[in-house]
Amino acid sequence: MKIGIPRETLPLEKRVATVPDVVEKLHGLGFTVAVESGAGAAANFDDDSYRAVGAEVLPDAAALWAAADIVLKVRPPSAEEVALMRPGTILIGFIWPAQNPELMQQLAAKQATVLAMDCLPRTLSRAQKMDALTSTAGVSGYRAVIEAANAFGRYFNGQITAAGKVPPAKVFVAGAGVAGLAAIGTAANLGAIVRANDTRAEVADQVKSLGGTFVKVDYDEDGSGGGGYARVMSEGFQAAQRQMYATEAQNADIIITTALIPGKPAPRLITAEMVQSMKPGSVIVDMAAEQGGNCELTVPNEAVVRHGVTIIGYTDLASRLAKQSSTLYATNLLRLMEELCKAKDGVPVVNMEDDAIRGLTVIKDGAVTWPAPPLKQAPAPAPKAAAAPVEHKKVAHGHGSSGPLPGKTLAVIFAIAAVAFWFIGAYAPAAFLGHFTVFVLACFIGYMVVWNVTPALHTPLMSVTNAISSIIAIGALVQIASPAAGTDGRPDSLITWLAFAALVLTAINMFGGFAVTRRMLAMFRK
Ligand code: NAI
Repeated sequence: MKIGIPRETLPLEKRVATVPDVVEKLHGLGFTVAVESGAGAAANFDDDSYRAVGAEVLPDAAALWAAADIVLKVRPPSAEEVALMRPGTILIGFIWPAQNPELMQQLAAKQATVLAMDCLPRTLSRAQKMDALTSTAGVSGYRAVIEAANAFGRYFNGQITAAGKVPPAKVFVAGAGVAGLAAIGTAANLGAIVRANDTRAEVADQVKSLGGTFVKVDYDEDGSGGGGYARVMSEGFQAAQRQMYATEAQNADIIITTALIPGKPAPRLITAEMVQSMKPGSVIVDMAAEQGGNCELTVPNEAVVRHGVTIIGYTDLASRLAKQSSTLYATNLLRLMEELCKAKDGVPVVNMEDDAIRGLTVIKDGAVTWPAPPLKQAPAPAPKAAAAPVEHKKVAHGHGSSGPLPGKTLAVIFAIAAVAFWFIGAYAPAAFLGHFTVFVLACFIGYMVVWNVTPALHTPLMSVTNAISSIIAIGALVQIASPAAGTDGRPDSLITWLAFAALVLTAINMFGGFAVTRRMLAMFRK
């Protein structure tokens, strides 16, 4: 079948639904690809770059929609685009069915099959590779900080220079979901002091791990509304939150707001008085501008100055990094196409028995199938940060889900070990028993040390413990310097050569271990 990529028609939209690298992979699934001329131009992918990977470039939208069996898009199609669509086309892109009932009707009338990327059941871990909401929010969070930095008249990081001391910028992030966390990470990496708040207490650890400080509202209520999303908070909570935000606003140089509640207008968190209390030159980036704004004074799609504070309400933040967001989105769509076309024969199968595909499918052959029924199995709550390593640890050691050995088996193992030990003690030379005891204890201690280390640290740990093999090097050197005598009383050359081989192998182990450790640690250094 032919996949068609039209040029996005919404003003300000610079993204494109596929990129040349992904076109090649779509060919691998058995599809042919046609691109409307200029579709990728705003994201720095010209027609020639698509031609170079074997895509057909069609002159205009009419030709594209007429040729395509499957259309991949970013934004919901306009009425004009739906009119160009062939009956029975498969359309994949952002649709927002709750907000666009008319569009849903038009698409159903075309007997289309529509997969809405915004309807993916995000809590299914299998679906994460297709989660375009997350990849888009990550790009937007990053760009929000860059926009703030552009409007802010100072450095983000603190500096001590000959010309004087510069304090670091203070950034406050309201809402620590995907976009908020991306903003926290970016601002912290630029050297700012970052504080953040969310109604869901579970994100506190994530904020901390990205270099921010979680600021709690002094009111005992958790905002988790299920599936990782928030719910509307009580009046009491909102009053306490306003008080806390008023203090944060006074101290912050930059506020980035990302707070959203699915299906509701964005919560109003920053009042006009809070804006007035901020220092002149401060910046607010309101990422919720499209849903009504978290700040009272936001003007969607504009940057305005109120009380000396620049308030940025751009709704196209992801599009302002068009190349990056197009590439990520194209990869999300590719993963979806792989799921739809497991046979790699260029014929997609919309399997309504598959939870992820069922959630995405909002119209099937002209019949509206949105909203999908709730997932059969309720998503498990996100594991607590401290609990995660324990789970991994079992897998890392190849024990799967098996628990501790049953008492009887353990007793048999110990009995066999005790008999073997007695046997060695009775018949082996006395020196051997001593060495053997040390060897067993060393194995036991080594095993316990590795077992109790977080899996993420296994590689550096192993590479450092490899360095312990230097002890072997010392043993080998001793043997080479004064080799043991053979049966004829002369130094045994076999032992010398064995010691030399041990030395060479150990040297590889030691230097390799240090090299790996250095590389691992470099990954964590700023
Ligand atoms: P979102 O864009 O709907 O909301 C953004 C943030 O605003 C949320 O963290 C929410 O708690 C917060 N918020 C809402 N009202 C607020 C208020 N009054 N004050 C302060 N903060 C408020 O959500 P997003 O970013 O799309 O996803 C939120 C969460 O969903 C993620 O952090 C993650 O935990 C979860 N998620 C889970 C996935 C998975 O399990 N595979 C995939 C994607 C998201």
